[in-house]
Amino acid sequence: MGLRRLPETLVNRIAAGEVIERPAAAVKELVENALDAGARRIEVQLRDGGRAYLSVSDDGSGMTPEEMALAVERHATSKLPDDDLVNIRSLGFRGEALPSIGAVARLTLASRPRDAAEAWQLSVEGGRVGTPRPVALQSGTRVEVRDLFFATPARLKFLKQGRTEQNYVRDTVERLAMAHPQVSFLLADEKRRVLQLDAGSGDLFGARMQRLGQLLGREFQENCLPLDATREGLRLTGLIGLPTLNRGTSQHQYLFVNGRPVKDRLLLGAIRGAYQDFLARDRHPLVALFLECPAEAVDVNVHPAKAEVRFRDAGLVRGLIVSACRHALAQAGHRASTTVAGAALGAFRPEAPRTGPLPSGNWSGAYRPAPASAGGLAQAVAFYAPLPGLDAQPAARGEEAGEVLTESADGSTAPPTPAETAFPLGAARAQLHATYIVAQTEDGIVVVDQHAAHERLVYERMKQQMARSGVARQLLLIPEVVTLEEAAIQRLLARAEELAELGLVIEGFGGQAVLVREIPALLGKTDVVALVQDLADELTEMDEALALKERLEEVCGTLACHGSVRAGRRLTVDEMNSLLREMEATPHSGQCNHGRPTYVELKLADIERLFGRR
Ligand SMILES: Nc1ncnc2c1ncn2[C@@H]1O[C@H](COP(=O)(O)OP(=O)(O)OP(=O)(O)O)[C@@H](O)[C@H]1O
Ligand SMILES: [Mg+2]
Repeated sequence: MGLRRLPETLVNRIAAGEVIERPAAAVKELVENALDAGARRIEVQLRDGGRAYLSVSDDGSGMTPEEMALAVERHATSKLPDDDLVNIRSLGFRGEALPSIGAVARLTLASRPRDAAEAWQLSVEGGRVGTPRPVALQSGTRVEVRDLFFATPARLKFLKQGRTEQNYVRDTVERLAMAHPQVSFLLADEKRRVLQLDAGSGDLFGARMQRLGQLLGREFQENCLPLDATREGLRLTGLIGLPTLNRGTSQHQYLFVNGRPVKDRLLLGAIRGAYQDFLARDRHPLVALFLECPAEAVDVNVHPAKAEVRFRDAGLVRGLIVSACRHALAQAGHRASTTVAGAALGAFRPEAPRTGPLPSGNWSGAYRPAPASAGGLAQAVAFYAPLPGLDAQPAARGEEAGEVLTESADGSTAPPTPAETAFPLGAARAQLHATYIVAQTEDGIVVVDQHAAHERLVYERMKQQMARSGVARQLLLIPEVVTLEEAAIQRLLARAEELAELGLVIEGFGGQAVLVREIPALLGKTDVVALVQDLADELTEMDEALALKERLEEVCGTLACHGSVRAGRRLTVDEMNSLLREMEATPHSGQCNHGRPTYVELKLADIERLFGRR
């Protein structure tokens, strides 16, 4: 093999492979160029999601024909005047975006500097640069990209459908627009305006709030907290969502470093850390956070698409994010759930997760099998009966912290019989704070988290139903209309058949919404809108090629969570006891779907130790 230098076109195609992954990446580069050129108005046009055609027009500083000729050459940039890679203040700096695009597509630049009498145009096709020609154009620049990847067919094959690619472009433009609220943006496809954002008025902060409001929707605005914190020259501002407003993926986390949208692992990890006491591991808050720091505190030259950055002092950044978020959440009156006194907690050891039904052999005394594990007809009936407390209604006002003592028929609080306490999880004695069931066993106390436990039960039942006969469905008397983003609707509809197998029957409803006709019978009354939203989120994270059945655990988990008895629901003694019996008969019932224990057991011996009696 002869060792040789590769021809320039090939070098550019190789480089393009890293920078220009799909139409959205080209749009990102071109919009960033427009922003660097000081544009106040930026327009993006797409045909077939950018696969056939995309253009970005701006009213920025423009280029002379000589500058254009240089701009399409590799490593030509106007943005490093002092060769200083440390002090980068522009979005671009490598001088490779335009030559990369030109190497894999048909690229046309048209530009006119503000004080120039005429505009010029220059084309590059698969790396071959043409000669400049005069053209009619107002001051500013228009960059057109046709037949992206025509020169690299292998890459072309990896493109998704136009609609999907358009969604990526939209996400890209939205993120850049959040970071630059004083610039107006327009995104249009062959049929209509997809996104129109007018330049925000007032100072940067005010403009940013307006823009976030436009892009993130009412729900976020109503459920978010403002944040503004500084530490050692770093400033963090933005909005963070309340923990209760959470999603199944982190795609609704918008993060920016010095005006640059990033998807940085350190930052995402810091947010996870800040919320970890408030959210299950697989739930993600909605946030829009802007970090400003001195240019020398961050290296933006570590990722081909500049999506990740490296901080000189990662610990400082993480600390700032975690403490600022926690502080904001605390001020909102939310307390971490882990503030239980440590000493007492030491005695409340969660049961290790079990892998089968609770073994009766572990328990002294007579263990009566729970109803659901009885054989034959009884089992079938119990199996399809609604789970206790399925019509999860929030507690009436004033009852939230209520406490129910179990009462016998004559109203006295008689101690439970030995037969009742012989169950592994004991006899229900009280419900505290409308959330915890306290049960008495032969030799101790069991405290059950009713929501976590119920979620697990619904989940296990769904799995069993799936395996046997398909999930039983219940027809909604009035179909529910769920309004969603276009992308989410497409994802759901693409899976409609598989979802029907899981008991959820949906159909398209005018492009802006889906109609839900049937839901899994197991779920009882449930918030269909929230359920469908969560499912849509879940689907984004899943590999398109994977059948839902292979991801059954996740999907069932999401469904189950919505069919569960929420914390805050008052239960009757019978409901509590049947929940305990059901738990005893159900595999994996010792932990909820998020890996938290569903109950803790405290032996009398432990309690005695707690009081120094032993
Ligand atoms: N819309 C525009 N308006 C004015 N000048 C532009 C525009 N787009 C590109 N240029 C000029 O062309 C040069 C090359 O652009 P290109 O995107 O290839 O590189 P860059 O922005 O300097 O660096 P990077 O590769 O990191 O994006 C820029 O440095 C800039 O001088
Ligand atoms: Mg650039």
